[in-house]
Amino acid sequence: MQARVTAHKNFTISTIDPRLYGSFLEHLGRAVYTGIYEPDHPTADENGMRRDVIDLVRELDTPICRYPGGNFVSAYNWEDGIGPQSERPTRLDLAWRTAESNQVGIHEFARWAEAANTEMMLAVNLGSRGLDAARNFVEYVNHPGGSYWSDLRRKNGQADPWNVKLWCLGNEMDGPWQVGHKSAAEYGHLANETAKAIRAFDDKLELVVCGSSHSDMPTFPQWEATVLDETYDQVDYISLHMYFMNYEKNTREYLALPEKLDRYIGTVSGVIDYIKAKKRSKKNVKISFDEWNVWYHEREADEKRMKEWDWPHAPVLLEDIYNFEDVLQVGCIINTFIRRSDVVSIACIAQLVNVIAPIMTAPGGAAWKQTIYHPFQLASRYGRGTALALDVDCATYNADIAANVPYLDITGVHDADAGTLTFFAINRHGEEPMTIDLALERFGEIRSVEHTLIKHDDLEAVNTKENPDNVSPVKQDGASVSGGKVSITVPAYSYSMIRVK
Ligand code: AHR
Repeated sequence: MQARVTAHKNFTISTIDPRLYGSFLEHLGRAVYTGIYEPDHPTADENGMRRDVIDLVRELDTPICRYPGGNFVSAYNWEDGIGPQSERPTRLDLAWRTAESNQVGIHEFARWAEAANTEMMLAVNLGSRGLDAARNFVEYVNHPGGSYWSDLRRKNGQADPWNVKLWCLGNEMDGPWQVGHKSAAEYGHLANETAKAIRAFDDKLELVVCGSSHSDMPTFPQWEATVLDETYDQVDYISLHMYFMNYEKNTREYLALPEKLDRYIGTVSGVIDYIKAKKRSKKNVKISFDEWNVWYHEREADEKRMKEWDWPHAPVLLEDIYNFEDVLQVGCIINTFIRRSDVVSIACIAQLVNVIAPIMTAPGGAAWKQTIYHPFQLASRYGRGTALALDVDCATYNADIAANVPYLDITGVHDADAGTLTFFAINRHGEEPMTIDLALERFGEIRSVEHTLIKHDDLEAVNTKENPDNVSPVKQDGASVSGGKVSITVPAYSYSMIRVK
């Protein structure tokens, strides 16, 4: 199969906000306890944080990490996680029916984030609590001193404020499963008043209001319209979430799901424009796609586990083991965000460690990379710069979810400072290899081409503690260059990164 792609230096989509490669860590299952925090682990640092995990997060190069939830945040008292660890209360976490020891709170997470080279994106509880707890938390985290909450932070060992810029006004408030679930009008009002109080403290902070939990929610997209009508002047981003599933084991349909993601973003972009016009506003609200990933492998088993257990602390939960097929999916999802980077500024892979995550750990033992670590890491590291509006000519297929799904899913990113052009290409054809002819216009002379391939003959292949490199990127030879054109042949069902200098 043949695909022709043209990239022109002046045909651009947007500068990519590096926070497109954000992540998420929730107090859920083993994400925190035995994930990032394990004081008895051989690699633990002076804060009890696993250095082996910190190293893998640093390598992933994720510029922000959302915390502490997720559904967890909607019944969380942030004050439980401050002060001497021995005096912190154990609470029942209503979201996941587990016990929360509060041994990790904002101080521990902040120290971890610094070590992991990522910035905090914090969520406040607008489920069981509201404006008052939110404004106190912001004061505790960001005020230098001389007030009750900031002086308490200083007393607890942190003299300097953390100056967290990005704040989420609750989580998935449209979901009936959420503790303190609200109607769009109720939530919109509360979010607006909370945003005003936070802005009265510091009007430079960036605020994210909750959009829909997924695009099949019965309240979508009226939720976005109502909530933005209430909050447009006070917020900077509206959050969206989406998880990808392949229960039917139908790879063609599965790999077409990013078309649904694209429509979801397009619809919300339209709602933003509608409210902007209605308010005669000059301001642009953007999308924070702050939860996305493949999530289905362990879902049914987890639902059963949660019904049966008796409030355990840090149990195995949402530990999806990702396969090679999920590499292709994650590649297509990230490509969709790159193509929509004019409206999607922030996106967070959900989650980061153990819980539907690119990084896995064994308690007391090793940490390793799941298959999906690799497409995320390559995009996060090399997908910075300007997203290009490519002209793509290739064969398509019809899926239930969308017609004319191109077999080649490809994006291009130009980093003018580094003098690089990077393409992320997924061949969605299951039988045929594909020759990609890339015509590069106005980028100057081509000096070198690097091709990195992720391919496995078995779509179900996984990485394990014993075999952590089973699915991983491999450098290839074979790219040819002539007359400003690059030609590369990629195998059926494969992920490629092509870097041109
Ligand atoms: O990431 C797992 C859960 O998915 C989050 O807690 C929630 O926000 C979403 O439903």
